[in-house]
Amino acid sequence: MNITILGIESSCDDTSAAVLRNNVLLSNVIASQAVHVKYGGVIPELASRAHQQNIVPVVDTALREAGIAASEVDAIAFTRGPGLVGSLLVGVSFAKGLSIARNIPLVEVNHLQGHILSHFIDLPDRELPHPGFPFLALLVSGGHTQIVRVDSPLEMEIIGTTIDDAAGEAFDKCAKVMGLPYPGGPVIDRLAKEGDPGAFRFARPRIEGLDYSFSGLKTSFLYTLRDRVAENPDFIERHKADLCASLQHTVVSILLDKLVKASKQTGIRDIAIAGGVSANSGLRDGIVAEGEKRGWRTFLPEFKFTTDNAAMIAMAGYHRYRAGLFSSLDVAPEARLEEL
Ligand code: KG4
Ligand code: ZN
Repeated sequence: MNITILGIESSCDDTSAAVLRNNVLLSNVIASQAVHVKYGGVIPELASRAHQQNIVPVVDTALREAGIAASEVDAIAFTRGPGLVGSLLVGVSFAKGLSIARNIPLVEVNHLQGHILSHFIDLPDRELPHPGFPFLALLVSGGHTQIVRVDSPLEMEIIGTTIDDAAGEAFDKCAKVMGLPYPGGPVIDRLAKEGDPGAFRFARPRIEGLDYSFSGLKTSFLYTLRDRVAENPDFIERHKADLCASLQHTVVSILLDKLVKASKQTGIRDIAIAGGVSANSGLRDGIVAEGEKRGWRTFLPEFKFTTDNAAMIAMAGYHRYRAGLFSSLDVAPEARLEEL
């Protein structure tokens, strides 16, 4: 039997809707909010307002591109959290409205589970590689940096997490002090290609176990800039590519270190990456190289599934739907949802 899920994602600054039939993606529409660029970061109030403007046209377009009517949707999956509460509220309210209007089940999804389960989406003309269970997922986004042990689509456990900044946040904050536009991660990735990754050395964390820390790296990056700019006001402009390459190299090497440790500890060698930072070319190359050395099967998401999208929410919703995990109409958004 075919199951058709409409997914809604509105946790941060992208309004997205997607239609999934079983695990095949029929459409995935994303409206990115340009309004935040001039502020150098996401302004929550502006994000909620933009979601309100975008959500109806985005859902309409997703249904049209999928070639289905609203009456053919079996369930509506939405991001309950974590994220910005005002932004989440728009998606949650829309999902409830449609659930009542069409008398179909509501399925809440944890945004982070969505990122991980994006690895199970297939395209209409092409199957994509899927990891086997159990696998380890390195979830790296603007708000999270975690190593997750995934035993099934519904059973996940965080075995390592950042104790301060997320990897994406480290990219974004360092980009900001270099005067680069928001979000800084993709810009650093592009500039790093022309730089020398060994040009600068930054502090690396010494944290026990599988946890991460990026605040020391950020501080050491800042101090390097401050000292060098004091000597030479053109320093950033002249060394931008080297700074980006060295920063990216350090972030990737910190990420890989603990991932290698986690694989050794658990004996798991199916390794996937997910989240916005999994678009980073240094991380993608690094994980493939490490995998070849260690006999891993590595899984890199398609670029369109790295940053926030509703396809992954529909995918996670599909598994919850099949397990009969429905939400009631009094479900509320949750800014923090630390457990998976
Ligand atoms: O998953 P995502 O879209 O939103 C969150 O849930 O946070 O991730 C956004 C983060 C931002 O920090 C952005 O700078 C980072 O992903 N990012 C990248 C790249 N593309 C996006 N970081 C490094 N390299 C990239 N190519
Ligand atoms: Zn995300």
